[in-house]
Amino acid sequence: MGRKLVAGNWKMNGTNADLKEIEALGIAWAAPRVDIVICPPATLVSRMAFALGGQPIRVGGQDCHAEESGAHTGDISAEMLKDAGARYVIVGHSERRADHHETDEMVRAKAEAAHKAGLTAIICLGESLEQREAGETLDVVGRQLAASLPDGATASNTVVAYEPIWAIGTGKVPSVEQIAEVHGALRAGLAERFAGEADGIRLLYGGSVKPDNAAEIFGVENVDGALVGGASLKSTDFSPIVSAL
Ligand code: G3H
Repeated sequence: MGRKLVAGNWKMNGTNADLKEIEALGIAWAAPRVDIVICPPATLVSRMAFALGGQPIRVGGQDCHAEESGAHTGDISAEMLKDAGARYVIVGHSERRADHHETDEMVRAKAEAAHKAGLTAIICLGESLEQREAGETLDVVGRQLAASLPDGATASNTVVAYEPIWAIGTGKVPSVEQIAEVHGALRAGLAERFAGEADGIRLLYGGSVKPDNAAEIFGVENVDGALVGGASLKSTDFSPIVSAL
């Protein structure tokens, strides 16, 4: 297992004025024990990468197109993110799967594009409340894992984020047993397909991670870090989460 990872997803939040949050983090985490990534809106990727300068905090995109370039108004390619200073990109977030009808196949193509550009893909998956209540969670995430990860996934180019949709932005968090069950199943699924790489592919938990629950979540087996939404927007919330890992 490599270094643990905490990634912040700002979603559709943040303007230039909010870069001060990152500058505060950069000072606090000049030599972090874990990998730290912030994924701001696309408008801030370049500015944030510049603001962080030599700091060991990486910048990521929140999505990329599967193509390198072309007539895709409003979209951004993985190469463009790399050029802007990003090292990571989130693909397949449930909000994109829902709002933009992204399928596992599309997510896989985006992850392949990210790899080709030299970015690490943070591939998201997770069940809805209906699927959880119907006892379908492991089937759903197993199918998503199989169909969303490219064959070329390695420990260095791929991170998987388990985000139960019902836990995102709701303050509801699965029990540690529920998280352990899903992360154990995901690890087994990775081992079946990627053999020697499987242990190194980091498995993040995401969904209402806060300063007061981070340590308990990070104590769960096969949890290698977190994908944090709301609590990544303020350095005063994000710093204690990083410290808890
Ligand atoms: O990408 C982040 C997740 O959707 C979690 O968001 O921490 O606001 O629940 P949240």
